[in-house]
Amino acid sequence: MANTKKTPELTEISEAQIAVHWREEKYYHPSAKFKAQANMRDPRILKKFGLDKFPDCFKEYAGMLTWFKPYRKVLDTSNAPFWKWFAGGKINASYNCVDRHLEKHRNKAAFLFVPEPEDEPDVALTYQDLYNRVNEVAALLRDLGLKAGDRVTFHMPMVPELPITMLACARLGIIHSQVFGGFSGQACGSRIQDSGSRLLVTMDGYWRNGALIDHKVNADIAVKTAQEMGQDVDKVLVWQRYPGKYSSKTAMIQGRDFFMNDLLKQYHGRKVGPVALPSEGALFLMYSSGTTGKPKGAQHSIAGYLAYVTGTSRWILDIHPEDTYWCMADIGWITGHSYIVYGPLSNAATSVLYEGVPTFPDAGRPWRIAERLGVNIFHTAPTSIRMLRKLGPEEPRKYNYRFKSMTTVGEPIEPEAWRWYYREVGKNEAVITDTWWLTETGGFLGTTVPALHPMKPGSCGPGAPGIHPVIYDEEGQEVPKGSGKAGNICIRNPWPGIMQTIWGDPGRYVKTYFAKYNKKPKSKNWRDWPFMAGDGALQAADGYYRILGRIDDVINVAGHRLGTKEIESACLTVPEVAEAAVVPVTDELKGRMPEIYIALKPGIQPSREIHNRIVKANEDLIGKIARPKEVYIVPDMPKTRSGKIMRRVLASISNRRDVGDVTTLANPDVVEQIRHMVQGKEAAVSKAEIPEDIARFGQND
Ligand code: WTA
Repeated sequence: MANTKKTPELTEISEAQIAVHWREEKYYHPSAKFKAQANMRDPRILKKFGLDKFPDCFKEYAGMLTWFKPYRKVLDTSNAPFWKWFAGGKINASYNCVDRHLEKHRNKAAFLFVPEPEDEPDVALTYQDLYNRVNEVAALLRDLGLKAGDRVTFHMPMVPELPITMLACARLGIIHSQVFGGFSGQACGSRIQDSGSRLLVTMDGYWRNGALIDHKVNADIAVKTAQEMGQDVDKVLVWQRYPGKYSSKTAMIQGRDFFMNDLLKQYHGRKVGPVALPSEGALFLMYSSGTTGKPKGAQHSIAGYLAYVTGTSRWILDIHPEDTYWCMADIGWITGHSYIVYGPLSNAATSVLYEGVPTFPDAGRPWRIAERLGVNIFHTAPTSIRMLRKLGPEEPRKYNYRFKSMTTVGEPIEPEAWRWYYREVGKNEAVITDTWWLTETGGFLGTTVPALHPMKPGSCGPGAPGIHPVIYDEEGQEVPKGSGKAGNICIRNPWPGIMQTIWGDPGRYVKTYFAKYNKKPKSKNWRDWPFMAGDGALQAADGYYRILGRIDDVINVAGHRLGTKEIESACLTVPEVAEAAVVPVTDELKGRMPEIYIALKPGIQPSREIHNRIVKANEDLIGKIARPKEVYIVPDMPKTRSGKIMRRVLASISNRRDVGDVTTLANPDVVEQIRHMVQGKEAAVSKAEIPEDIARFGQND
């Protein structure tokens, strides 16, 4: 009975192991030229946004907006932790992003749309054009009977019609919910159901990697899925990629599907006054993955959100109306909402909107676009940086563009990739802001203020102005400041960009982000409600944070969050599958990818065909981004004696690490069989330090 005594399992991560060792990187300093032109170059601002000045410091951001009625209270905490920012005010996001710029910037481009086919001309949309088109769509939506508080789901690609429709909703107070265009019809359908939308807005097709993709087909699947889940969709509005021409093979359904182009004919020149909406109204929902299989709709407010993205676009992205700004993210993610649409437009930016893949037709494409359009602020994710570096390390040199400022977002960036970005893309001249934040936070949490702080590769920097991070250990003790010890990063204070709640599930909001570290559940004092971001992090002696990755069951694939439970549920839709376990594995380009372990029902033999159906189930139910790196059909899952699947053992195997002592498992032999299957007989185990998120993965199983 060797295994009955309570020896700690070696697969458990001890406190000491969590203290991650990493080389201190040297600083890079912003140039005098950059500093001289920066929107925020007054070092006193950091004090002005000190915790002792909270919450009044954020009046500064509210002051960047145009209000229909001034707010009464900066922060109302009476229903903590459901914060109400700028309470009592009346405002409209569409007015702030469009109408108020007409006087000065009427004929300046709001968007420069770059189609993926290189022979198709760019389209410049001036603020006047944007105003006209937003009004026409708003008039149409109003005539369809939609009003403030109703939800509308979009499943749109990266085309100007997406921000136009968003702003039309915002004009009336309709809550938009854009589902990333690359998600499947089913994924869209379940989000339609959750939000209770009766209207879906989509496009017939769009260009991606050289092909005109039929996208309307997804709308049919989405409507069917929503209906099966109990939500009827009355109408599907279909934009045409080429107005007047239908670019899809899927039939239009009489009485349900309508071409926007046809409907809008009667609305030419129509105007709709922007509705004066309460500050605390909801602007949009953005669905994201979490610990359970059900995506959660992060609900963002009108005034607080808009103030926060306006302020951070001005001070951190350093957008001036004279700049040409390009964020390569997709508007279907929070980065696009905050830093392609609302933040930049509120600052009267000229923003580039690119339809396609950055490496199409070759790795020089982004730099050709930058050169042609005179882009001087560039914003992208580590995955794209790694890809562009791999495919064309010297491409940027061939093009004559000059960036003053660059951003990275979405995943930790390796110092090597950071230095290439700095040296080759930024030509040793542009500043880099590494911005750490989440769907739920609306805008940046951790970042340097580019003219005030030096940059350090691999670290996002200190908290953004007015954001006061703290790292707690599992027991709720504060990890000493600057100690370099890892723990769970939280924000001590609320900020205007924070989500209001999870749509339809306020209990989950409190539980996910606050319950762990809140000691007084009835408290109305914001000090009792630190926000738990769900990332591991450490703080170096200089106060800079290094983000280590998710601590929950979320895999960050190419900067996009996928819940392991969502993937596992997709696998279980294949009838032969008895059990599925998903683990993150490191990937050179995408950062992390899911690997799937499957146990089949008794008597069923593994086959290529089952394997393919498992992959397809993920693509159909979630989208192509959920395609696993590998699927292993194993004889049995490693389990504890109580029958729990030991995902962390599988994660060690997938990541070529030692599995440690597994003798306490119910079926230790199967571990060696699986290891053999995945790593091969002789496979050497990597001695390199295991990334924090993977080391911790499955700890809570
Ligand atoms: C990760 C994207 C390191 C993090 C805006 C977070 C980052 C998750 C960074 C949120 C960064 C985002 N450095 N990690 N600069 N930015 N992350 O909701 O794990 O799609 O929790 O929001 O991405 O992803 P989301």
